[in-house]
Amino acid sequence: MTAGAREDRIDTSRPHPARVYDCLLGGRDHHPVDRVVVERLPPEARHNALRNRAFMHRAAAWLAGTGVDQYLDIGTGIPTEPNLHQIVQGILPSARVAYADNDPIVLRHARALLVSHPAGATDYIEADVRRPALILDHARTFLDFSRPVALSMIALLHFIGDDEDPYGLTRTLVDALPSGSHLVLSHGTTDEHPHLAKSVTDTYRKGEIPLRMRTRAEVEPFFQGLELVAPGLVTATRWYRSGPAPAEEPSGFYVGVARVP
Ligand SMILES: C[S@@+](CC[C@H](N)C(=O)[O-])C[C@H]1O[C@@H](n2cnc3c(N)ncnc32)[C@H](O)[C@@H]1O
Repeated sequence: MTAGAREDRIDTSRPHPARVYDCLLGGRDHHPVDRVVVERLPPEARHNALRNRAFMHRAAAWLAGTGVDQYLDIGTGIPTEPNLHQIVQGILPSARVAYADNDPIVLRHARALLVSHPAGATDYIEADVRRPALILDHARTFLDFSRPVALSMIALLHFIGDDEDPYGLTRTLVDALPSGSHLVLSHGTTDEHPHLAKSVTDTYRKGEIPLRMRTRAEVEPFFQGLELVAPGLVTATRWYRSGPAPAEEPSGFYVGVARVP
């Protein structure tokens, strides 16, 4: 596909999750329609996006510290430094990171994701998590699935409705991972801010972005059959490995890192 054709697929008339999130993080790669969504969201949304991103930093650093050198990151988002590969290659320069996102705007910025440490490698594909077999087929050309792989899906699955089988597609991806691999997951929730539930969901819906926030009991099954590492399934600021002591403040995300037995 030519660069021109790719540009044509970037729809600036309606908001996109990747650009809304970029705006929440204080980035510059979004459009006025995305800003409208952010302006309607409660102020907690910005803090929560930063706390979610900080969880990704801590989880990636912890995994790399344990020697995990292969990563498949789905729902990558518009590059925001430090990106996952910069964190893990800062610890294990030879780490290989495959990124995937279904938004053409992320593809446009993928160059930044492909600047790897020379000892390691990064890869990017435009792909939809709702088609896990395609992602796995591509990832197998880049990662060695006979050795542990960390699969990360950070702030992704709340964009997948119940009718799109989020648990089943997660299972398909996890089942492809060898023993000793990890699932790293964060998922939006309004458990800590129940009074904001309706306004957040309505704001995204108005922007035609379906959002399915889930409760703790609804996030737990994503880890079925896996061994959650301490501190288990917790809200983002309470996940303490390779970072500051757990904070009691709300974060709007449930997070967990679990080992494939
Ligand atoms: C909120 S951003 C999270 C970015 C990054 N993972 C982080 O947490 O910092 C969600 C990303 O998921 C992507 N996404 C949403 N639905 C997707 C799907 N069905 N398949 C692949 N990516 C998707 C969006 O394009 C966006 O880049």
